[in-house]
Amino acid sequence: DWVMRDHIAEAVESIRKQVGDEEVILGLSGGVDSSVAAALIHRAIGDQLTCVFVDHGLLRLDEGDMVMDMFAGKLHAKVVRVDAADLFLGKLAGVSDPEAKRKIIGGLFVDVFKAEAAKIKQTHQRHVAWLAQGTIYPDVIESGGAKSKKAVTIKSHHNVGGLPEQLGLKLLEPLRDLFKDEVRELGVALGLPPEMVYRHPFPGPGLGVRILGEVKKEYADLLRRADAIFIEELRNFRDGNSGKTWYELTSQAFTVFLPVKSVGVMGDGRTYDYVVALRAVQTSDFMTADWAELPYALLKKVSSRIINEVRGINRVTYDVSSKPPATIEWE
Ligand code: XMP
Repeated sequence: DWVMRDHIAEAVESIRKQVGDEEVILGLSGGVDSSVAAALIHRAIGDQLTCVFVDHGLLRLDEGDMVMDMFAGKLHAKVVRVDAADLFLGKLAGVSDPEAKRKIIGGLFVDVFKAEAAKIKQTHQRHVAWLAQGTIYPDVIESGGAKSKKAVTIKSHHNVGGLPEQLGLKLLEPLRDLFKDEVRELGVALGLPPEMVYRHPFPGPGLGVRILGEVKKEYADLLRRADAIFIEELRNFRDGNSGKTWYELTSQAFTVFLPVKSVGVMGDGRTYDYVVALRAVQTSDFMTADWAELPYALLKKVSSRIINEVRGINRVTYDVSSKPPATIEWE
């Protein structure tokens, strides 16, 4: 629509004016905000933007390739993919405390990004002067407002504050005035696929907090395959009344890997394999949430597909805990 087209034209103009003939670096995570920021800035300045995509090995199935297909393949943006899976998994070995895992992942993320940004600054001919971030309006309020003064921090989130100063870069935040809905509309108007723009939120530490306790590659590989089945079936199943898919009817849904083994039977043999839990919630603000009353037929399909298709998992459970007192993620 024309309002959006106007908005894009205005934003493009303002980014061009701000940046001039300098260059911009942006950390692409595959999430909605950084994706839309990247698409918008790319529309404005093309090759003056370099995206850095740090793959920490804790992404969902094929997610890294999808991000590259979209940005490097379709949009023809400059994207550097840093494959840091071994580094992250190495540093996570033997660590099982949730907050310790978050700190390691968050810290490494910043280190890897900084190293890559420094390389780009050195090798590029034009002056690399900007760090772009997909900060949106609710983030702006959150960092200055009441939320950050919460007495207890339940879970520490990624904190990239201070990064621009450390890198000697100016901050470019073209989504600062927008609410999430507006960011999504902008993303679609810029040509990003709706499936990407209307995705459920995914935590920065990724599967690192969806594998309970110690993170191992073997666990991550099993979890990725099980979770892909769950999400595929949520996208397939429609509710008869609303006509919407169960992916649309839930706010967040994912699979959790439990590093315990239980006994099962397959053919005439005994199995002794891992357990996963399915989690699906409905919420308007993520501060409180109800577990979703998914149809039994959907649960049945997902469970039988996971157990039949993912060798190594022989039991699927459904999480029926609301927030509070449970949190949405298990860690
Ligand atoms: P909880 O589990 O606290 O989650 O009920 C509320 C929302 O926050 C997300 N979440 C995170 N996001 N880094 C993030 O970027 C994190 O460490 C993190 N922990 C939880 C969670 O997915 C949910 O949307």
